[in-house]
Amino acid sequence: MCGIVGYIGNKDSLSVLLEGLRRLEYRGYDSSGVALLEKGNIRIVKTPGKIKDLDSLLRKEKISQSVIGIAHTRWATHGAPTKLNAHPHTDCRNNFSIVHNGIIENFASLKKELVKQGHKFISETDTEVVAHLIEKYYKGDLKKAFLQALARLKGSFAIVLLSKKHPDRLLFARQGSPLIVGVGKNENFLASDVPAILSHTNRVIYVKDAQAGEIRKNKVSLFDIKGRPQPVKIEKVLWDLESAQKSGYAHFMLKEIHEQPQVLKHLSCAGIKFDKKLISILKNTKQIFIVACGTAYHSGMVGKYAIEEMTKIPVAVDLSSEFRYRSPIIDNQSVLIAISQSGETADTLAAVREAKNKDAKIISICNAVGSSLVRESDFVLYTHAGPEIGVASTKAYTAQLMVLYLLALNIAKVKKTLPKSVISRYANILCDTHNQARTILKNSTRHISEIAGRHHNFGSFLFLGRNVNYPSALEGALKLKEISYIPAEGYAAGEMKHGPIALIDEYRAVVCIATESKIYEKMISNIQEIEARKGKIVIIATYGNADIKRHSKEVIFIPKVEELFSPILVALPLQLFAYYVAAKRGCDIDQPRNLAKSVTVE
Ligand code: AGP
Repeated sequence: MCGIVGYIGNKDSLSVLLEGLRRLEYRGYDSSGVALLEKGNIRIVKTPGKIKDLDSLLRKEKISQSVIGIAHTRWATHGAPTKLNAHPHTDCRNNFSIVHNGIIENFASLKKELVKQGHKFISETDTEVVAHLIEKYYKGDLKKAFLQALARLKGSFAIVLLSKKHPDRLLFARQGSPLIVGVGKNENFLASDVPAILSHTNRVIYVKDAQAGEIRKNKVSLFDIKGRPQPVKIEKVLWDLESAQKSGYAHFMLKEIHEQPQVLKHLSCAGIKFDKKLISILKNTKQIFIVACGTAYHSGMVGKYAIEEMTKIPVAVDLSSEFRYRSPIIDNQSVLIAISQSGETADTLAAVREAKNKDAKIISICNAVGSSLVRESDFVLYTHAGPEIGVASTKAYTAQLMVLYLLALNIAKVKKTLPKSVISRYANILCDTHNQARTILKNSTRHISEIAGRHHNFGSFLFLGRNVNYPSALEGALKLKEISYIPAEGYAAGEMKHGPIALIDEYRAVVCIATESKIYEKMISNIQEIEARKGKIVIIATYGNADIKRHSKEVIFIPKVEELFSPILVALPLQLFAYYVAAKRGCDIDQPRNLAKSVTVE
């Protein structure tokens, strides 16, 4: 939610900031703006719309060269996406300019207080109070005023401050929303995420919660919220800019779909080093809890099947937003696995904190190094999928599945819940998954795009799966609805007769996952029930199943794989199908309406 960029150095700050905003646009894209120090004054330019709208507005304005500035791309929370509500915001005299990601929960009472004291507000945002608070407290010491203002804030934030009174520095703070410092030579950067600064430097500092700091051209300092100095730890980003670019693909989503074989290969064959202590804790636990949101929740559901089947440890899977409010029975003997691509999802972090309060051990499965989730966990299993820019999660999902399978297998090995021969067979299956994924992408992409061409005008979709592919059906429906805006529902096929069958007629498209499995025949019965009611069926089946064509001419084949591991392969055609349906409908695939890549508010 919202992307922040800040720059100080010798370069033209406007082009650095705009480039950074373009790379962060996945975080929010309803309005944007920049504030630059121009001839001793703060110049603010902002507009509703996308970064390209800001870019064309800036081209019309005459802006002098500036070497310090801040910028923001917004995903609206308080106030509509208008020019006035766009960031940066400023105080009454335009001395202090602010960009902010997060929510200031007590902004209404602060605003009331400040208005009483004579401050003039022009936006409906929560952010504007921060600029006025700094104005209120400023008596010549910027750091002191900044810290005094921060002390008044409740909620989550990453904030960057530009002041015309101190043209040699940018101040920043983080509480709950991500922020990094990019360390350059004679220049330094601030950003919500690494891609914004990666063309300039790969040396970053992951700012921690309750940490603030200051960047100057040649200096970075960190301090706590009381102003006491804190150590600076610079880390090297291991991926390059290429990973954060489209590299010839029409969309990030398509590129990320095609990166899956490589990600799966890295995880399964190069292997993850599982901490012995982590495995021993899991081996001895009586109950595992999994919490996650959206796509990550679907991977958690598959994880339940895998862990229970291989290790015989009971697993409860919860949506993070539900877990935190349902008084879960959890204690110091419990283990909670939190799954999140971004590591910044507010609900998942809140669920983790709930479990930590009850002394449970926290394991995170995460893609983002240095994220809040990683920092709050006792153990981290990285998905190593590289940056995922498309709002629709694809490679992070299959990477999460792979990590969960490998984790289950490693517990089973130590717990001896599977014979050695089965363990090595499963390990081989996982190690071969990337080849099978590559086969699907190579053989089926065109065919899937043709099927999508025949189905993109349907008004609604049903996705049906059973057993371990029930979560796949949920994921297929989520992918389709979020990028094509077609209402789509995922259902356990066995539940069809308990309601959804009422929806079936010749206008309803139904995607059925009928790969080889122990419940294949049951799935075929469901398919026949849909046929009888003239539903338009698309089937995902296993190569070699000649019989399946009797039920529909729209069949997507995937390679034969043991049922337990099939969700990884099933995910690929579902992702491609959603992608091509959305493409045929002319949707904004990487930046679907109303969504943002990381949901850092409740
Ligand atoms: C997936 O395509 C979504 N955009 C969304 O459901 C996402 O998976 C969810 O918001 C969780 O995000 P996280 O993995 O960063 O926690």
